[in-house]
Amino acid sequence: MTPNVSSWHTLFINVNLATMSDDSTSYGELHQAALAVSHGKIVWIGEMSTLPAYNVDEVNVVDGKGKWLTPGLIDCHTHIVYGGNRANEFEMRLQGASYEDIANAGGGIVSTVSATRAASEEMLFNQALPRLKALHRQGVTTIEIKSGYGLDTENEVKMLKVATELSKHIPVTVKRTFLGAHALPVEYKDNPNVYVDLVCNEMLPAVIDQNLADAVDVFCENIGFTRAQTEQVFKAASKANLPVKVHAEQLSNIGGTELAAQFNALSSDHVEYLDEAGIKAMKDSNMTAVLLPGAFYFLRETQLPPIALLREYGVPMAIATDANPGSSPVHSLQLMLNMACTLFRLTPTEALAGVTCNGAKALGLAKSKGQLAVGYDADIAMWDICQPAELCYQYGVNPLTMLVKEGSIVISH
Ligand code: NIG
Ligand code: FE
Repeated sequence: MTPNVSSWHTLFINVNLATMSDDSTSYGELHQAALAVSHGKIVWIGEMSTLPAYNVDEVNVVDGKGKWLTPGLIDCHTHIVYGGNRANEFEMRLQGASYEDIANAGGGIVSTVSATRAASEEMLFNQALPRLKALHRQGVTTIEIKSGYGLDTENEVKMLKVATELSKHIPVTVKRTFLGAHALPVEYKDNPNVYVDLVCNEMLPAVIDQNLADAVDVFCENIGFTRAQTEQVFKAASKANLPVKVHAEQLSNIGGTELAAQFNALSSDHVEYLDEAGIKAMKDSNMTAVLLPGAFYFLRETQLPPIALLREYGVPMAIATDANPGSSPVHSLQLMLNMACTLFRLTPTEALAGVTCNGAKALGLAKSKGQLAVGYDADIAMWDICQPAELCYQYGVNPLTMLVKEGSIVISH
């Protein structure tokens, strides 16, 4: 088909591409290439030698001078909306307390719940904004943000409204996940099932009514919710046609991933303790494994996720920050690229796939984001690097020189 050159709005010339559009064993490299954008979409990709004639007066031409383009990065698992911080628990852990000890003693997630409930929508927004800016400056164009520190209708709604508002201030696509079943609030300490009923019968309907969620998540764990409770939430979500995800197999294996597979979940996240049956279930139901090296690092976990088996079964692996005040107070997806390789021994190709095409899969966006391909959204990062592996190899100097969001240049220096 002859390209409709007259519709081109922006054209990148003299660039190298890591298209991430083959599979996670290849960058999908194209050297000395060009990429054209029209109406927010990628409309043409090819080698410079095949670039059709275009009218230089009508197209905004960006000469990349040999720099690299990748898809805009996708952080598919975060909790960046929260009040307060947990530096005190960090100190406690350095003196020997474990994450579980702290949670069982009434700290952990529920201490962030108190701070989040006490904060106004505006305060939460102002605290989350620099976190989102930090991620965006490093190339993030799509982020998932979970609720889960409100744990009552009013405060879960408040969190999701803040997540929605953030996308209006920073050019980032925000996918919002309702995580009412994140922890048991103190007022339901002795009545977990009553709380789960509340999640399903009051909180979820309120969130849906106000169109505040794109997916539903549950923390299925000994210090979170049982399999049966998780199933109840998944049933309610599925009835409302919302996709589900799960925090599972982070500290133990109680079968959360297998359960999630029965509901065709988008992803199972953490998965350090995932076993082969769980991996098989993921493969059979097309799920993505979201690996969170920041939480592994910050909690000094020693159980590695079953990378070799995930590879063997061909389960897509995404990488995310899990940015949150307790287990991963880390707001750098570039650092996660490095940690995915150093801590989890992913190849740089797999790591980059984890924050592009596979991150998109974990959010149900595989057909529009995470790849440089014709028809995909023009979410594009330009990097001053000589080879894609540099994005994983070095950390601390930000090689991002340009960020394009749905066709508009939103960062350029
Ligand atoms: O993904 N695992 C549960 N939720 C978060 C931790 C939240 C917190 O400690 O505040 C996580 O690690
Ligand atoms: Fe998380």
